[in-house]
Amino acid sequence: MNKQNIGKFKMFLVGLKQRYEDNKDYFIKLEVRYKSGIKEFPAVIEKDEKDTFKMAYAGKVENISIDQLPDTLAGEAEKYDEVHLVYEERGTNIIVDANQKGVKIRYEDNVKEVQDFHAATSHIGGREYIIKVGQADNLLKEIGILTKDGKVKNDMIRKYNQIDHFVELMREVIDEFPEGNTITVLDCGCGKSYLTFVLNYYIRDMLKRPCYFIGLDHSETVIKASREMAKNLGYANMEFHQTDIKNYTSDRRVDMVISLHACDTATDMAIGLGVKMNAKAIIAVPCCHRELLNQYDYEVFKPIIKHGVLKARMADILTDGLRALKLEALGYKVSIVEYISPLETPKNLMIRAIKMNGKNKLAEQQYQELTKILHVNPSIGNYVNG
Ligand SMILES: C[S@@+](CC[C@H](N)C(=O)[O-])C[C@H]1O[C@@H](n2cnc3c(N)ncnc32)[C@H](O)[C@@H]1O
Repeated sequence: MNKQNIGKFKMFLVGLKQRYEDNKDYFIKLEVRYKSGIKEFPAVIEKDEKDTFKMAYAGKVENISIDQLPDTLAGEAEKYDEVHLVYEERGTNIIVDANQKGVKIRYEDNVKEVQDFHAATSHIGGREYIIKVGQADNLLKEIGILTKDGKVKNDMIRKYNQIDHFVELMREVIDEFPEGNTITVLDCGCGKSYLTFVLNYYIRDMLKRPCYFIGLDHSETVIKASREMAKNLGYANMEFHQTDIKNYTSDRRVDMVISLHACDTATDMAIGLGVKMNAKAIIAVPCCHRELLNQYDYEVFKPIIKHGVLKARMADILTDGLRALKLEALGYKVSIVEYISPLETPKNLMIRAIKMNGKNKLAEQQYQELTKILHVNPSIGNYVNG
């Protein structure tokens, strides 16, 4: 193969390494077939139970690290006319054909694997799902997680994982509410309402507890789609409103406010609405944190936050830390947990707040001191008051 195409092949392998890093649990196998004339030389790379890569090639089996793969595989390609590579992961095969003419990449559904996933009644990486394929098929089909013939869509696996993990952590929150009373849940920035539908199924159909859901989003399209899905599923205990979260008012009692990846300060609006509506529980998984990045200024941090990436991560931590502290000041018991692996989404922190009795003066004082030292005016402070 010529140098140019070897270079392209190597670039692809570098991309593949990143894909592996982002989706380690999805990896199944990597097969490479080097060809010269009619002769073929196969290499098979698999992981053992200790997550060590073993490469079987040219009559030997050797350990190989993911970092060595691009150089090793592209280096071998220099000796041959053609390379055919299949990277097999759950749901998808990536196939590469590299030769003198060029490097072609295509993606194919790994249907057998998707069927296996179905047959395993919803296990990924050994975890059993709460909302199971095979039991909740009508719901999962309607919200677009499953295909019409009951297979998990490849591009919905992450969403399915996220909402199922979210639901798993809801059990102890739901136990805070007295049996028999209707639990009213307000989903802020509901989008297509995957979370609301799945949580409704969990509380109503699995836990057999009465519940009512209100979804808010400023996008007309997603609100229409959510109403349509509720109608198709026959769920009369749901309403959806096209509105900005900060403008929503209602006389209805709200027990729990949830928000999953509401953009930037929409998370603060959701928390603020929960506080104003006196919700017993506020559960927020924040998304991007742009607000404090250009505000915070603290001399002591300067030698560290000269690195842009650290400055951004520090802004994330300060934003969520101040949200939690403000909630504590208002009398909530707060915990912050990683609700899902960062490989699924880097936006994986869940703020869980349960209303207790009385305000916490010390936390309020700490909040005021911190915002002063950092020179910040976070939205959380404004939305919980106004
Ligand atoms: C990233 S999506 C997440 C949707 C959904 N929670 C999910 O996890 O699938 C964020 C949603 O928040 C909505 N949103 C953002 N800011 C909002 C605001 N101020 N008021 C109402 N909706 C808002 C957007 O329209 C979008 O549908």
